[in-house]
Amino acid sequence: MSPPPAPAAAVALAACILAVTAATLAGADDPYRFFTWNVTYGTINPLGTTPQQGILINGQFPGPRIDCMTNDNLIVNVINNLDEPFLLTWNGIKQRKNSWQDGVLGTNCPIPPGSNYTYKFQSKDQIGSFFYFPSVALHRAAGGFGSFNVFQRPQIPVPYSPPAADFTLLVGDWYKSGHKQLRQSLDSGAGELLPPDALLINGVSSPAAAPAIFVGDQGKTYLFRVSNVGMKTSFNLRIQGHQMRLVEVEGTHPVQNLYDSIDVHVGQSVAFLVTLDQSPADYAVVASSRRFGISPAASSPALLTATATLRYTGGGAPANIPMPAPPPEGIDWSMNQARSFRWNLTASAARPNPQGSFHYGGIATSRTMVLESSAPAIAGQRRFAVNGVSFVVPDTPLKLVDNYNIANVIGWDSVPARPDGAAPRSGTPVVRLNLHEFVEVVFQSTESEIQSWHLDGYDFWVVGYGNGQWNESQRTTYNLVDAQARHTVQVYPNGWSAILVSLDNQGMWNLRSAHWDRQYLGQQLYMRVWTPQQSFSNEYSIPTNAILCGRAAGLGH
Ligand SMILES: *[C@@H]1O[C@H](CO)[C@@H](O)[C@H](O)[C@H]1NC(C)=O
Ligand SMILES: *[C@@H]1O[C@H](CO)[C@@H](O)[C@H](O)[C@H]1NC(C)=O
Ligand SMILES: *[C@@H]1O[C@H](CO)[C@@H](O)[C@H](O)[C@H]1NC(C)=O
Ligand SMILES: *[C@@H]1O[C@H](CO)[C@@H](O)[C@H](O)[C@H]1NC(C)=O
Repeated sequence: MSPPPAPAAAVALAACILAVTAATLAGADDPYRFFTWNVTYGTINPLGTTPQQGILINGQFPGPRIDCMTNDNLIVNVINNLDEPFLLTWNGIKQRKNSWQDGVLGTNCPIPPGSNYTYKFQSKDQIGSFFYFPSVALHRAAGGFGSFNVFQRPQIPVPYSPPAADFTLLVGDWYKSGHKQLRQSLDSGAGELLPPDALLINGVSSPAAAPAIFVGDQGKTYLFRVSNVGMKTSFNLRIQGHQMRLVEVEGTHPVQNLYDSIDVHVGQSVAFLVTLDQSPADYAVVASSRRFGISPAASSPALLTATATLRYTGGGAPANIPMPAPPPEGIDWSMNQARSFRWNLTASAARPNPQGSFHYGGIATSRTMVLESSAPAIAGQRRFAVNGVSFVVPDTPLKLVDNYNIANVIGWDSVPARPDGAAPRSGTPVVRLNLHEFVEVVFQSTESEIQSWHLDGYDFWVVGYGNGQWNESQRTTYNLVDAQARHTVQVYPNGWSAILVSLDNQGMWNLRSAHWDRQYLGQQLYMRVWTPQQSFSNEYSIPTNAILCGRAAGLGH
């Protein structure tokens, strides 16, 4: 695999930041990569027909790609030149012992307009395809996202031959309305966002705007890294005339099955190999939206399609074969495919838990949480909730509240472990869990839309997907041998998904709907993974440059 390019570093700046970070990062001997990111508004035209305001990083939409290597130290100075507070989060980067750098409102103060914050973190023990995105104020709907590829170190093998090159595809739904307008509609209490207007691949919607072209040689094999960076739409991806060999799911290595097409839900990433075994021509890379259920707000969302091109060197004419058809609309095909994603037990390299437990199925769980999503009206406003509690963002990040023992902000354990039928309410729940607990979480949907759930700081084993109401007897159906490990799991309409997670990463971690309107309207909570023995080997202390806001403003680091 091609090594990542050398970091664009200002040497003088490097020397001074190094002195600061060496004290707080364990991997001080690992290489450093420096980035300075200028976040601004700018005009973009992803639909080719509708110039609109986008969020750019260093003038780019999507934002710059991060290519780094396992254990690299990343120093990202984010300068906010928007007119609103801004924050980036690193989807799938586990921030080991370091939830301080997670970049969500429960861990970080947003960066005020005209100000900057320098993230300092390590891609510790990870290999794979991830992405970053803005985590506040629906900025994500306007851009600010980009890919984040972590390459293996030379001495670490991955379970496939090096591809000739790799291609990165950021695919997501898109709105003609700007993020402020979308926010207004959510703030009005009217409910979820209406269906999106388009689907984009790498920032363009075909055919009105120039679609992305990926060029390769006949006979060679290429790695495609695909992430769903959208707001709320699952998609299916396929390549005309070619099969896809799945080799990575969010930093873990699955059994390498061949697929004609792959479903990717919001917040998820996959990587697959494609061998250019056809005659030289242009082949369509097609993403189309998956609709599954019918949403109450929109009885029939339109099928959205985006197309890019896989071009053989010497090709250039469209292949004379049929376009690849989308899979059946229902749940069954997708759920069966999800069950076919299984962990390759003999593959080395990145594992969900650094101790490398292959026997997760034999570990006793310390507790079960059944988290049921709902869309209640609270004080006349449509909200989204988990077990009846709709999360309200506090004036001070929970991580700071905990660090400084600030009273009356956190609702400790205020979300019930199971749906209890109590009246829907607002709150700021943090679930207290002990370091090294082994926990079962069941995501229960009673709604007709597909959902997607993400946990920061962790990978988890997805041991089961089912229809209807989960109960204890479903445990007999769990895959306790080779379930796929990942950080984001879809939940099918009126169905459930069950995960097991080994809580080996101390910190304050966001568990949230990856559907961004649901997250924005309260479908999230935090988990504090903690131990009374305070030790830097468990968790780093507050960064010296942490922004202090709300009730933490003016307190010393
Ligand atoms: C950021 O970009 C804006 C717009 O291009 C420019 O005016 C500003 O000087 C840039 N700031 C930095 C720190 O590079
Ligand atoms: C803002 O950037 C400057 C360098 O330009 C750096 O010294 C400073 O630490 C940054 N601020 C924060 C809060 O990271
Ligand atoms: C699993 O990984 C091993 C070790 O790298 C590899 O040789 C094997 O082909 C993989 N198995 C499957 C079924 O993908
Ligand atoms: C549990 O769920 C299964 C499958 O839906 C159902 O057949 C069974 O009756 C349920 N058991 C209990 C105790 O509710």
